Order: sequence, then C-alpha cells, then structure tokens
Amino acid sequence: MLNGSGTFDAIAARRAFGDALLERFPFHAFVSKTITLAPREGNPPPRLWETPAGLINSIGLPNKGLDGFLALDLPELAELPVPLVVSVMGFSRDELATLVQRVGEREEVGLIEMNVSCPNVETGLVMGADPVETARAVERVRALTDRPLIVKLTPNASDPAAVALAAAGAGADAVSLINTLKGMALDPRTAQPWLGGRTGGVSGPAVRAIALEQVGAVAAAVSIPVIGMGGIASGRHAADFMAAGATCVAVGTESFRDPAAGRRIAGELAEPQPV
Ligand code: SIN
Repeated sequence: MLNGSGTFDAIAARRAFGDALLERFPFHAFVSKTITLAPREGNPPPRLWETPAGLINSIGLPNKGLDGFLALDLPELAELPVPLVVSVMGFSRDELATLVQRVGEREEVGLIEMNVSCPNVETGLVMGADPVETARAVERVRALTDRPLIVKLTPNASDPAAVALAAAGAGADAVSLINTLKGMALDPRTAQPWLGGRTGGVSGPAVRAIALEQVGAVAAAVSIPVIGMGGIASGRHAADFMAAGATCVAVGTESFRDPAAGRRIAGELAEPQPV
C-alpha cells in the first residue's frame, strides 16, 4: 500500500500526530509530492473543488525545488519507517536528468517516480501522453541512476498501454497509474472557471472505473510491476485493482477524508473479500 504522490503530507502529518504517525504509518512505502528543478509557488487559489464523487485539484506543483527539497524535506522524509519514493517532474529531458541524477545520489532515496504529466518545453507535447516522448525521457535518465524507476502514467493519453510499453522498453522498472483526469468546474455565481488554474485534475471515486480499465489494459501489455490507483477507498476496491493486474496499490483522495485510510484499506485487503 502506497500513497498517491501529493495526497499525503507526511511532514505536516508528523507535526500534527507526532511519533504516533511513525508507529502507525498508513503506507508500506511513501511517495513524495512531485518536485521540480526550480522552486514553484503553485497555482493561484482556489485550488480545490469537491464534486459529488471526487475532487478537482489545480495545485500546480508548489514545491521548494530540488535544492530546497534535498536540504529541507529529504532529512525529514528519511525518518519515515518505510522506503521513500521521490517523485520528480522535468520540463525538459535535461531537467529530468538533473533531477534523477541528484535525487538518486542520496542514500535516503529508495526509488524514483517520474511524473510525466507535464508539457515538454522542447516539443510542447505532454511527455506522458506520447509513447515516443516517454521513451526518450526514460532513455535519457536510465543510465544516470541505479535506483528503480517508476513512470507515473497519465490517463489523458489516447493509449496508456502503448505509453507503458514504451516506458518499459526504455528501461522503466515499474509504472504507476492513474494520475488525475483533466476536468473543470464553474463558479455558480459567475459561470467562470472556479479554479485559479482554470482547469484541474479529477480524482476520487468518480475515476475508479476508468482507472480499473486502464490498469487492466496496462498490466496486460507490460511485464514490469504495475502500481494501481484511482478512487480506491476500501479493501474491496484495492482487491479489484489487484485482480485487474496491479502488483500493488496506492490510496490518494481518500486520505484527505481519512488520513489513516492507507492502513485501514491494507487491513481490509488482507481479509477475505466478500463476494
Ligand atoms: C499538482 O500539483 O498540480 C498535481 C500534480 C499532478 O497531478 O501530477
């Protein structure tokens, strides 16, 4: 049981819950919020909109940047009692290479997740929406680290299985999916976009059926491990993703409602599933 990147702030949770968090940590591995090379403020507020069955977020990747992360966040995340996965996003292959190399040099880091949902500034294409772009990104970084590389796939691709195959062929050790689906909400008073970033990413129960289908298609296409996520809120949901071919699962939006959801769902998954 992992967390979806950006859905559980372990540093803030440690401040709120103290060492009790470490004793009852909700996940078996922890995935950091995505970091970029330069610091980012993120999108203007409002950043969240609740839908009847999920959430639209337009956070915009606020983070301290690579140097700030390594100096300030990594030492705190290294105290967690589980392996650490650092999520990175580059706006070019060179940026990605710097991120992967420098993150991979740190012994506190167990694995690296490449979030390829961003537009490549060189081509304008969203890296993860295109198999060729994805393969070129993985090829660029593969030799720079001996850490296992996970590629986080976007569901906003016409053929996620083709992107997964391209990532695997270029040397990815695992793929994770799904990231959020593009969505939008209007302010009922003005009929203008509610979110400061105009559009956002839809997550939660609303996307679970889509995620399950994409996880199944990807798992059928690749022989590397698949980390499945998208609206998982119970052991039954997690079991469905495993049955569809996921090697392990991650909890995202449900952790905002219940910070202990990862632990609860892992416990439910270990029990026989009702039919
Ligand atoms: C965000 O910070 O905007 C979310 C990042 C993501 O969906 O990959």
